[in-house]
Amino acid sequence: MPLDRLAFQGLRNFKTLELSPGPRINVFVGENGSGKTSLLEGIHVLGMGRSFRTRQLRNAIAHDASELVLHGHLDGEPPVPIGVRRRLDADELEMRLSGEKVGRVSELVQTLPLQLINPDAFRLLEGSPAGRREFVDWGVFHVKHDFLDAWKRYRRALKHRNALLRHGRMQDASMSAWERELAHWGARMDDLRHAWLDAFLPVFQETLEGLISLPDLQLRYARGWDRKRELAEVLEQGRETDQQMGFTQQGPQRADLSIRLGRRPAVEILSRGQQKLVVSALKLAQGRLLERLTGRSCVYLIDDLPAELDDGRKRIFCEWLMHMRCQAFITSVDPGALMEQWDPNTPVSMFHVKHSEVGQGQLLPMDRQTS
Ligand SMILES: Nc1ncnc2c1ncn2[C@@H]1O[C@H](COP(=O)(O)OP(=O)(O)O)[C@@H](O)[C@H]1O
Ligand SMILES: [Mg+2]
Repeated sequence: MPLDRLAFQGLRNFKTLELSPGPRINVFVGENGSGKTSLLEGIHVLGMGRSFRTRQLRNAIAHDASELVLHGHLDGEPPVPIGVRRRLDADELEMRLSGEKVGRVSELVQTLPLQLINPDAFRLLEGSPAGRREFVDWGVFHVKHDFLDAWKRYRRALKHRNALLRHGRMQDASMSAWERELAHWGARMDDLRHAWLDAFLPVFQETLEGLISLPDLQLRYARGWDRKRELAEVLEQGRETDQQMGFTQQGPQRADLSIRLGRRPAVEILSRGQQKLVVSALKLAQGRLLERLTGRSCVYLIDDLPAELDDGRKRIFCEWLMHMRCQAFITSVDPGALMEQWDPNTPVSMFHVKHSEVGQGQLLPMDRQTS
């Protein structure tokens, strides 16, 4: 389901911004500071309930506004309006789907599957395991429908076990009961992640090969606890050290996807540009697998695509986007940089992002041929 309408109020430099994007490739060009990244940020908040630029969504509220109100309209059968609102004087994010209030961000995520590729994307390789876990779980969540339930039950049990550890109540009967819950749901999460990864790996390899030749690159999933032991046993035997640390040290909450080149972490060997290609391949493969397994496509937010990709790579990247049935929002400072990439049959909508004195975002449609 593509977004066919966006209306934002009080987002960064835009008092208002209205846009009717095309169903496939949308390219936004404009000077530095015109608001291209903010536009992607607005879509990201609609689909993920949070920004990719700031932990505090209040920072994305325009300086002279008291709230941020974002609307999107998904063109489907039936169509789905999405709305989020964040007031300056309240902490919560109000979320609506088809006019009904929703309480969980996962409902937004389910409705609007998004993948972001931006100049910080290489951090997926170099950053903490949490980002890579999130990447894996995004895929699992969208294709394995009981993953969310397993994850919630696991989290609940984890919270209880950690509280018992902190209060020194290790011999409580409830300790064993929570550990049984953890072992059960933890193993379920691990099975689902494994199954997803088995399907993901060949799609990733194929996507990567098109972008860059790195035959030694390997993705390896570490489940978060000893491969040879059951989680129940690990938990029981780890009570004492867990108590000293004050939390549960092993389990699927510590899983990671290690990305290696031969025997060393890929991040220590690859150039920044190569890292970006690996991350791009990971993210394109997510969308391709989603299409293959569910028939749904995700929306790609691609900030500053041309940066650091040579012409050949740009073309291959754009070819993947054209082969997929996804909708993409792509920004660039250079109007010429992406023009040659699209074949004439692909619907491409070009917009020039201009920012006026009154804060009214202007998006002027551009002609593909003449711009
Ligand atoms: N909370 C805010 N209120 C008003 N303006 C802001 C706010 N946050 C950032 N800006 C401004 O918004 C403009 C748009 O930035 P950005 O979206 O990064 O532009 P681009 O990606 O086109 O370079 C910048 O000029 C920035 O100073
Ligand atoms: Mg930008």
